[in-house]
Amino acid sequence: MNPEIVLGIESSCDDTSAAVIRDGYLLSNVIASQQVHKDYGGVVPELASRAHEKNIVPVVSQAISKAGLTVSDIDAVAFTRGPGLLGSLLVGTSFAKALGIALDKPIIMVNHLQGHILANFIKQEGKENRHPAFPYLCLLVSGGNSQIVRVDSPLQFEILGQTIDDAVGEAFDKCSKMMGLGYPGGPVIDRLAAAGNPERFTFAKPHVPGLDYSFSGVKTSLLYFVRDELKKDPDFMEKNKEDICASFQKVLIDILLDKLVKASRQTGIKEITIGGGVSANSGLRARIQSEGQRRGWNTYLPEFKFTTDNAAMIAIAGYFHLLAGEQTPLDVAPVSRMADF
Ligand code: KG4
Repeated sequence: MNPEIVLGIESSCDDTSAAVIRDGYLLSNVIASQQVHKDYGGVVPELASRAHEKNIVPVVSQAISKAGLTVSDIDAVAFTRGPGLLGSLLVGTSFAKALGIALDKPIIMVNHLQGHILANFIKQEGKENRHPAFPYLCLLVSGGNSQIVRVDSPLQFEILGQTIDDAVGEAFDKCSKMMGLGYPGGPVIDRLAAAGNPERFTFAKPHVPGLDYSFSGVKTSLLYFVRDELKKDPDFMEKNKEDICASFQKVLIDILLDKLVKASRQTGIKEITIGGGVSANSGLRARIQSEGQRRGWNTYLPEFKFTTDNAAMIAIAGYFHLLAGEQTPLDVAPVSRMADF
């Protein structure tokens, strides 16, 4: 069989990315992160769409030339159909359609979440390329999702639990903003937490039945705590920010792990992965590994470059669809919510 060369395109939020894989091996992965949102403390959808429109052609061209190929070598174009920001998704979807028509090659829609949960299957020359055996559990944690997903094959997955309010990444981002630490909050809190005492302060954990999550209560609990302490000492934040971040990060990780342990116990599955932007968190990565050792799990942590939004994961998911003989009709439209998939 000829090598299957898949171009992946990702434009669901504020990163424009294109990647090329050949037979599952990564040849290139180009990401243009949009800086335009920094001043607003969050992603501004209209600015994101405009930036994607500007970035998409140079990003795709670079990905193809870095792979040492020309555009006519592409066998299929995989793209993120959703979930995400509709205006952003429209740019990637329309571009993929246009390229598919121009090359007379199939286009393949990919669920962004499926990309995250398959990130460990991206193979790289000279690397160990470990990936989980099926079925496995993926803790999918990002700015928009907090889910436990059971994965039975590359194309079959089931959400066992998910947040009923905020995503864990949102809790990091909103609390960082509230504490005046900047955006995006996850990396800032992660860095400060490394120098702090995680046992110094306690925040109440939610009581949610089953395998679902909730992060809005713990966010409010931090808000009230900081507000009350600042009344007593206006310098409280500045003096204690490392310990606050470490304690807050610890409670978020505790909440994530409690349900993951429960899911593993209920399903008997001990192949465990994580994915999504928050899976870059050093505290979470260390905890998954220590918990895994204690419980006899086989754990698989994606490389940092595959934790945040990237097209390599879209290309690998597209590759699996291609192997299954699937392709997407040209009248497909992007969807902003998981429920519409
Ligand atoms: O997957 P992602 O890039 O975008 C989507 O939400 O789709 O995830 C972004 C989220 C943000 O909330 C960001 O604060 C968080 O991932 N994040 C982190 C870290 N790096 C990124 N959260 C905690 N620790 C980190 N090191």
